[in-house]
Amino acid sequence: MDFMEISRKRKTVRRFSQTPVEQEKLEKILEAGRWSPTAVNLQPQRILILNTSESLAKVREFCSFGYDQKYVDLAKECEDKEKGGVNFYYGAPLVLFVCYDADACWTHPQSGESSGVTDATIVATHMMLEAASLDLGSVWISYFDQDKAREMLKLPENWKPVCMLYVGYPADDFVPNTSLGGHRKPLSETCFYNELSERI
Ligand SMILES: Cc1cc2nc3c(=O)[nH]c(=O)nc-3n(C[C@H](O)[C@H](O)[C@H](O)COP(=O)(O)O)c2cc1C
Repeated sequence: MDFMEISRKRKTVRRFSQTPVEQEKLEKILEAGRWSPTAVNLQPQRILILNTSESLAKVREFCSFGYDQKYVDLAKECEDKEKGGVNFYYGAPLVLFVCYDADACWTHPQSGESSGVTDATIVATHMMLEAASLDLGSVWISYFDQDKAREMLKLPENWKPVCMLYVGYPADDFVPNTSLGGHRKPLSETCFYNELSERI
């Protein structure tokens, strides 16, 4: 598949079938992340693969929050009718919990900023696009309780959570969220040639 095709084909899935992701496909996704560029090639990404019912129950637990109409309006799938709150676990059979090792990152000599979040984000992006190329659905998750996740997953102190990727086959009744996603600003709003006054 041509890269542009993959890029356009990928769209957020928030309703998953329970069909497991084949081991071969999981390995390809991890391999795509492995070949990502990282600062000074330090490869500080650390990825926890969660695919047992016990591990996924933990994800459900640390993705649970009180009711918030704002999020339900954005994506109705997050409404947790059972608990009367919102929950950002959407039933995916596979969760890639992406962290970086704070002791293994490059630090910008001037700003002192660590490259960890950037490195882990690039890795997650590669994995997400590989999943799309394998006809799998995915969603990037930032909204989870990081402290609870750290505790429940027994993460070492130096592992800093960045995001989760849920991966799986879209449910039969999955409908893309076209009000939240699916559209993009024109390049003229986000790109400039040489000077800010010179729009595309
Ligand atoms: C950094 C980042 C954080 C996100 N966090 C969440 C999240 O916590 N929960 C969720 O349901 N979707 C989350 N998303 C998915 C976005 O809402 C989605 O990518 C966006 O609406 C565009 O839709 P599309 O992916 O279908 O093009 C996140 C996406 C990104 C890139």
